[in-house]
Amino acid sequence: MTDAVLKRVAIRKYTAEKVSEDDIKALIAAFQASPCGMHQADVMQMTVVEDENLLSEIEQVTSNACYNAPLLFIINVKKGNEFGERDASVAAENLMVEAATLNLGSVYLMNAANVLNSAKSLEQKLEVPEDFETSVIVACGHAAEQPNDDRSNRYKVVRK
Ligand SMILES: Cc1cc2nc3c(=O)[nH]c(=O)nc-3n(C[C@H](O)[C@H](O)[C@H](O)COP(=O)(O)O)c2cc1C
Repeated sequence: MTDAVLKRVAIRKYTAEKVSEDDIKALIAAFQASPCGMHQADVMQMTVVEDENLLSEIEQVTSNACYNAPLLFIINVKKGNEFGERDASVAAENLMVEAATLNLGSVYLMNAANVLNSAKSLEQKLEVPEDFETSVIVACGHAAEQPNDDRSNRYKVVRK
């Protein structure tokens, strides 16, 4: 299976190996290419974390909900905006598919995002503006597991 959309799978175990600078740049480009509702590009922004001290603080605050991934994409959206949550989910998928293309693992994290929103001093360090909140965190790194579930018939599909 070579298609990145089919190859992408939630990874919850990572090696300690860092993600290369070239790969981080490609992932940020994938985020920048994400669609947004009604051209409102100013309701979403992202903090990219690879600093080890910040990563361990996030793991501590979220009770290891980011699986010790060496790279976190923290996607923040303007509070109360009707497009923010949707924009963030689309952008998360762009990041995860690009990660699969680069042979990196990733996972969409909602719980960790929710916890982060209550950790105000940490959000300040991550430069999340006061009128924004974290919607999704995408954890990323070199996979230390390879799940192999059959996902070919997971959802009901109606064709008419
Ligand atoms: C809206 C949403 C929220 C999710 N939140 C979490 C989460 O907080 N923690 C986690 O480990 N995985 C989370 N996931 C990943 C899902 O558990 C995973 O995508 C699902 O089990 C399907 O597996 P797959 O991604 O390998 O196809 C989330 C996925 C979505 C789409």
